[in-house]
Amino acid sequence: MKLFVANWKMHKTRGQARAFADELSARIGGGIAGAELVLAPPFTALDACADERQRWALACQNVAAEAEGAFTGEVSAAMAADAGCRYAIVGHSERRRLFAEDGPLLARKIARCREAGLTPIYCVGESGQERDAGLTATTLVRQVETLAKDPFDGPLVVAYEPVWAIGAGRAATGEDAAAARVHIAELLSSRPRLRILYGGSVSPENAAALLSQSGMDGFLVGGASLSALSFEAIARA
Ligand code: PGA
Repeated sequence: MKLFVANWKMHKTRGQARAFADELSARIGGGIAGAELVLAPPFTALDACADERQRWALACQNVAAEAEGAFTGEVSAAMAADAGCRYAIVGHSERRRLFAEDGPLLARKIARCREAGLTPIYCVGESGQERDAGLTATTLVRQVETLAKDPFDGPLVVAYEPVWAIGAGRAATGEDAAAARVHIAELLSSRPRLRILYGGSVSPENAAALLSQSGMDGFLVGGASLSALSFEAIARA
C-alpha cells in the first residue's frame, strides 16, 4: 500500500474543502487500489473534508508541544485526534524555518502525538545551502536524532522533503530521493513500522517515475494536492 498525503498548508475555506472532498469522492468511487489517501487541511476544515466511508484519513499540519494549558492559539494533539485526525505532520520545513521549530521542540510534539494516538508524519530534508556544502547526510542524521526517544515500535512516517525542491517546480531526481531513502531507512533500521515518503514538487507528470525510481512508500504533496484531479492522478501513479 502506497501512502499519499495532501498537505494543503494555509489553503482552502470549509466550503472549498467540502467541494474538494465531493470531487475526490466522485473521482475515486470505491477508492484507489493499493493507495492509502490522507488529507491534511487547515484545522478549521478538518470536519468539512472528512470521509464517512473512510476512503481517506485526516492529518493535521501541526500540533502543540504541550498537552494542555495556557497556550493561546495552540491546538493539542488530543484535540486533533478528537477532531478526526489519524496522522499529524510534524517538523515541516516551513515550521522549522518560519516558526523557528527545532529538534527539542519537535521531539516534544512527537511525544504528544504518541500520547494522543496520532501517527507522526515527521519531515526531514536539507536546505539548498546544506546540499551545496555537501551536508545532506549530516543534516538527515541530525534531524533523525529528534526521534531518539520516540518508542521504536510505534507506527512512523518520515517524509524526506529537500527544502530546495518544495514549491520549486523542480523535484529531486529519483536517484537523489532513493539515496535519501536508503540513508533514512539505515538510520531507523530498528523500526518495524516505518514508511518513508518523498515530498517536494511532486506532480502528476513526475509521480510515476519518481515513485518507481526512488522506491519510496508514497508522497507528501503540497501544491499539486490542492486540486482533486491532480491529487487523484498522483495517487494513481
Ligand atoms: P510542494 O510542497 O509539493 O508544493 O513542493 C510539498 C510540501 O511542502 O509538503
